[in-house]
Amino acid sequence: MSIFTRRHFIGSIGALGAAGSVPGVLAANPRATGAMTKEITGIEKEAASFANPLRLPGSSGLFGVLPVSEFREVQVVRSEIEVLPGRRTPFLAYVVESGGKKFLNPAILARRGDEMRVRMINRIDQPTVIHWHGLSVDSRNDGNGLKVVPPGRSMDYDFTLRDRSSMYWYHPHAHGYIPQQAYHGLASLLFVEDDDESALRKELDLALGDTEIPLVLQDREFDAQGRLRYAPTAAQSFGGWVGDRLLVNLTEQPFIEAGRRIVRFRILNGSNARNYRLAFVQGGRPLGFFLAGTDGGLLAQPLRIDQTFIAPGQRLDVLVDLREADPGLPVTLASLTFDPMHNEGGHGMGHTGHAAPPMAHMGHGQHGAARAAEPSHPMAMEGDARALMRIDLKPSAKYERRMPTALSSLPAVTASANPPRRMQLGHNDKGNWTINGQVFDPKVAALSVQRGARENWLIENAERSMPHPMHLHGFLFRVIERLGSPATVRELAGAKGLLPQDLGVIDTVHVWPGESVRIAIDFAHPHAGDQDYVFHCHTLEHAEAGMMLRYTVKA
Ligand code: C2O
Ligand code: CU
Ligand code: CU
Repeated sequence: MSIFTRRHFIGSIGALGAAGSVPGVLAANPRATGAMTKEITGIEKEAASFANPLRLPGSSGLFGVLPVSEFREVQVVRSEIEVLPGRRTPFLAYVVESGGKKFLNPAILARRGDEMRVRMINRIDQPTVIHWHGLSVDSRNDGNGLKVVPPGRSMDYDFTLRDRSSMYWYHPHAHGYIPQQAYHGLASLLFVEDDDESALRKELDLALGDTEIPLVLQDREFDAQGRLRYAPTAAQSFGGWVGDRLLVNLTEQPFIEAGRRIVRFRILNGSNARNYRLAFVQGGRPLGFFLAGTDGGLLAQPLRIDQTFIAPGQRLDVLVDLREADPGLPVTLASLTFDPMHNEGGHGMGHTGHAAPPMAHMGHGQHGAARAAEPSHPMAMEGDARALMRIDLKPSAKYERRMPTALSSLPAVTASANPPRRMQLGHNDKGNWTINGQVFDPKVAALSVQRGARENWLIENAERSMPHPMHLHGFLFRVIERLGSPATVRELAGAKGLLPQDLGVIDTVHVWPGESVRIAIDFAHPHAGDQDYVFHCHTLEHAEAGMMLRYTVKA
């Protein structure tokens, strides 16, 4: 066995690698044999022909990097960009002109403690509003959609970026328009940096856009003219819209070159509804990597894993040591096969017949294995094995940095003595998704909490349901335990049923059918007066179909 094969093997059984003693290292993957090798080989074959250089944040243009101090006026406009080579795709964009340069969907760069002072001008023909996903700001600045900006009008944001260092993001939040506007282009990144972040970059010699690469994962469908297609049927409005083309930073079939060193990927699932089971693979095997952070910043220490789910809205901060890879082969970022668990109806499961039958477009668990065997499926479904990006290894300068053993310190998980507040996820017979049996009403606060209270919430998903990435505005939170997880999830879970990203500070928790997930929220914040926020599923079609509630934090 060569050194590389042995390292792969160590990675795939979740041994400690360079990280030293890491708690919660995950168990062996039960599929890690013949079937897995075949699946990964197919993914690598798909990636071999990827020929488009990945779009990277530069000094202007699409995803141009802009310091928050220069992000003073942003216009929401209709525009066009070249998504597919040689075609102009009509698009919605956040546009900033600064220092004689034009930025489309700028990646905003801020230091913890900086002020955000920006005027948003709505130049499209629909109401819109910017929501800063993951930032804990007061409700006026949250852009939660309880107030929206009509066409031709503007809104001023003014707040302090007081959150932990992480990759946050911003997107529209006008109820009734969220999935369409996000799908048509309105979404980008916001980096907050603090001392832990600076220390990590220094320790590993990382530079944003070069050895630290943001990856925005989105799926889209295009018509023959290269226009985005978004026309959900009743079933797709209920189940979620899944596109057949996978884009990374709006690049289809992308590749990058990377040196044999530690490379950092900051990954956002910016899809409306699609989940991914991410792995880095090479030579028919998963290449282990380190989870360094989640939605709300760095973990206490890097966690060695070989795959993890990422649901809409979630972010992963990942370190890949490409010195572990075989220098003679590319590495592929993949989404491995999984059962998407669209168990919301049909299939003779005693279902009562709501307005939205299960959709042919989307995968249903029991067919997962069969579908994986035909990689060139015209309508690639959620849960299919897919290549996302190829990483070509290039010779690089000597690099001797080691994986750090400590990254940050996390706020405590506070198990409350009181019984948890229960959030029951389900659906009604009218094609609505519900929380505690209720459909979203923006005029009504479904619950209120006391500012400064520490609560536990128990989010319980029905068996006949879908996975729901539940997102809380206003506060980040911790996960205490997962109960009743389906096999798909248990395979990847450690102590207390927790998944890798459950170990971090998060703003979106993925709750699978049949699961009960207990989370701890500390409702302390510096904002005087009552504040209103929302709690919703980040599968954007589910939020539109009612899976959102308004809550008040009483001063
Ligand atoms: Cu990313 Cu309420 O949203
Ligand atoms: Cu949000
Ligand atoms: Cu949902």
